[in-house]
Amino acid sequence: MQNKNEYFIAEMTEIQSLEADTIKGLSSTHKYLLSKYFYDDAGSSIFQEITRMPEYYLTKTEQEILETQKEHITDSFISGDSAIDLLELGSGDGSKTKIILKLLLQKRSDFKYIPVDISSKANCDLVSELSKDIPSLKISPLTGDFFGLTDSGNINRNKRKVILFLGSNIGNFTEPEIDLFLTQLFDLCRKGDKILIGFDLKKSPEIIMKAYDDHYGLTRKFNLNHLARLNREFGADFNLSAFEHHTTYNPVSGYLKSFLVSKEQQTVNITSLGQRFVFSRWEPVFMELSRKFDIATIESLAFSHGFSVIKHFTDQKNWFTDSLWIKP
Ligand SMILES: C[S@@+](CC[C@H](N)C(=O)[O-])C[C@H]1O[C@@H](n2cnc3c(N)ncnc32)[C@H](O)[C@@H]1O
Repeated sequence: MQNKNEYFIAEMTEIQSLEADTIKGLSSTHKYLLSKYFYDDAGSSIFQEITRMPEYYLTKTEQEILETQKEHITDSFISGDSAIDLLELGSGDGSKTKIILKLLLQKRSDFKYIPVDISSKANCDLVSELSKDIPSLKISPLTGDFFGLTDSGNINRNKRKVILFLGSNIGNFTEPEIDLFLTQLFDLCRKGDKILIGFDLKKSPEIIMKAYDDHYGLTRKFNLNHLARLNREFGADFNLSAFEHHTTYNPVSGYLKSFLVSKEQQTVNITSLGQRFVFSRWEPVFMELSRKFDIATIESLAFSHGFSVIKHFTDQKNWFTDSLWIKP
C-alpha cells in the first residue's frame, strides 16, 4: 500500500528497473544481478535473520558505535541555528537510526527525517513503525534509487542537510559507482553540510568469511531469494537447487564477492520478460560486492571528492567506522 506522504524519485518503478537490469545482467558476458534488488519482502526478512546471527558483526558493531557515541554524533549534526533535513539513503528498517533520531529530537525539534529507499514496502513499514515509536518526528519518505536523487528535484537544496549512509552500503559499490555516488553527494550538499558514512573495516579474513559464508545457510538463502524473486515476479523458472552459493575474500583489495554458480548446463525462461538465458556448467553469476576498507582509503575517498573528514567514530575492536565528513 502506498503511503499518502510518499514521494517517488523517478518515473520508473522498482519493478521496471528490476526488469531492465535483470535482462542486462543476465545477457552480459560475465553474468551478474544487482544486489539492490535483494530487499523484497522475503529478502528483507532473511536480511533481518542475517543481522541476528552472532557471526554477522556489522549491524551489532555499528549499533554499538551509535549507542556509545550518540551524544557526540548528534551534537556534531547540530551546528548554528538552522533547521536541518536529515536524509538517510538506503534506510531499510531504520532500526539503528532510531538511536540518533530519538536523541536528536530531544536536542532539536526542527528537523525533518527523509528516508530514501528503493523499496516502497521498506519505507511504508518504516513510516508506520516510527509514527508509533517517535510520534513527534517529522518524516517525509522518498521511494526510488538514491542515484537518481540529484536530478529528481525532491531535495530542498537551500536547506541545511545531514546525510546518513549507514550499514556499509557503500561497500556494495564498484569504484566507478563510489565515484559517481560521492560526486552526487558533493553536488547535493551546501557548504557546511555533513555526511555520516558507515564503512566496514578490514579485519581477520576468518571473521569476515564467517559473517558472509555462514553455516546456517542464511546468506545462501538471501542470494537464492533473488532468483526466487524473479520466479515470483516475472514467472521465471529458476531451479534454485541447481545453483551453489560461493563467497571469496581478497584481503589485499578488501573485496568480498558473492556468486551463485550454475551446477549444470541449463536454460532458464523468464516468461513475462519473453527472455531465455543459457547457463553453462559452473558458470558464475556475480551477486554482491561487500568491500572492506582501511582508514587511509576512506580519507583519500573523502579528500578526492572535496570533503574534509571531521571524525571517524569507531567501535572498541576497530572493526567498523561511521565516518563524519563535511563539505568545506
Ligand atoms: C543492507 S540494507 C541496510 C539498511 C540500513 N541502512 C542499515 O544499515 O541497517 C540496504 C537498504 O538499502 C536499500 N537500497 C539498496 N540500494 C539502493 C539504491 N540504489 N537506492 C535506494 N535504496 C537502496 C535496500 O532496499 C535496503 O533497504
